[in-house]
Amino acid sequence: MYSKEQIIAQILTGKPNGVQLEKGAVYAPANIALCKYWGKRDSILNLPMTSSLSISLAQKGSHFAFEVVDEKTDCLNLNGQSIDAQHDFYQRLFSFISLFRHNGEPRLNIAITSTIPIAAGLASSASGFASVVKGLNELYGWQLSCSELSLLARLGSGSACRSLWDGFVEWQHGSRDDGMDSIGIPLEYKWPQLRIGLLLASSDKKSISSREAMAITKQSSSLYHLWPEQVATDLAMIKSALAEKDFIALGHASERNAIAMHATMLKAKPAISYSNAKTAAWVQQVWQLRVDNMPIYFTQDAGPNLKLLFLEDSTDDILQLFPEVEIIQPFLIEA
Ligand code: DP6
Repeated sequence: MYSKEQIIAQILTGKPNGVQLEKGAVYAPANIALCKYWGKRDSILNLPMTSSLSISLAQKGSHFAFEVVDEKTDCLNLNGQSIDAQHDFYQRLFSFISLFRHNGEPRLNIAITSTIPIAAGLASSASGFASVVKGLNELYGWQLSCSELSLLARLGSGSACRSLWDGFVEWQHGSRDDGMDSIGIPLEYKWPQLRIGLLLASSDKKSISSREAMAITKQSSSLYHLWPEQVATDLAMIKSALAEKDFIALGHASERNAIAMHATMLKAKPAISYSNAKTAAWVQQVWQLRVDNMPIYFTQDAGPNLKLLFLEDSTDDILQLFPEVEIIQPFLIEA
């Protein structure tokens, strides 16, 4: 078993360790897994049991601004609000940043602006930790590659290793104990017609974190032994759907993968369910629309919100059927 500190030392050997830039700002996009990461083989390094595959949310993500300050404590501002040092988010963020500092120095003023609801199952920790490692890369002038930053981001949150790129990213589970081969790999497929519809069922903090929920599921669900095979099947189908631009196959495999993840959680002891009445109603609506021949699918992460998958030419129908939807164009990347 390796510690995070050992891995960081390995990645940063020979890199500068003094402040190179006193002030800077970076951005990382959120990502939504079409084939999910659920369960770890190493919970210190966030090494997954299986590979996973995501699509980036382009403009939805985390803006991270830092400034070195001559103070005794760090300051955190989240979406315009000052966050107390006792707050979970403050502690998780600075205990991660402290892995890279020496005796808590330099002290930092950090402002994170998230364009997605934090802790509402919209993958905000992914863009959050990816933006942190990008920020540290600037602060210290490491000049690391996106792949090296992906390894560092994973130490903060597993899904963050997929948030260093736009478009489709596969996180290969790897087999090494030090996790050096467990990394995000950008896939070359482009699909400009693809749309993601965000349906917010609640922006409350989730009742149980994905971290805790995946540990309980792995340990106690009688269905968990089926999960690796399910992922292998779904991942292969999603990759071939991307290669052939077969939307029905993509939607089908992605939705099936999300349902399998939630079914596996329901069989945990105690059972874990992230859905609420709105989620359930939207799922029924999506299924009915498919009976009526509309090509629309969903995926759902560790929260009640639903993400619709559809193509550009269904946009008008989707806006009419789901007036509260927010539509993302993953391949509309602003310069
Ligand atoms: C359901 O990456 O948040 O969104 O590694 O413990 O920080 P930790 O977990 P996290 O889990 C994400 C779970 C998921 C599926 C996914 O994004 O693949």
